[in-house]
Amino acid sequence: MSKSAKSATKAKRVGVRAYDSHVFVCSGSVCKKRGAKDVRKALKSEVKEAGLRREVRIDSVGCLGLCKHGPNAIVYPSGTWYLGLKERDVPEVVEGHLLGGEPVARLAADFR
Ligand code: FES
Repeated sequence: MSKSAKSATKAKRVGVRAYDSHVFVCSGSVCKKRGAKDVRKALKSEVKEAGLRREVRIDSVGCLGLCKHGPNAIVYPSGTWYLGLKERDVPEVVEGHLLGGEPVARLAADFR
């Protein structure tokens, strides 16, 4: 087998852990003005305090397109949207969703 054929069939190994949850916090200008930075900071702090740093990854993303509801965040793998997330809501999201595994119904967006 040629070298290029071998590399084409070989899975790419990268240094990224398989997280249980991945949280994307909007860092678009509107969400930023509405406190997204504080929400992200609180999430990082609560996740660390809960001992979930190896299980939960938190990243910033650009505008999620629902600016008027911001600050917004999405949690995967469930794909749960949290719109208008406040710093004070963060402990409930960490406790209920990231630790407990269930989206926080009171805070999760209902797109029906
Ligand atoms: S700026 Fe956050 S959804 Fe647009």
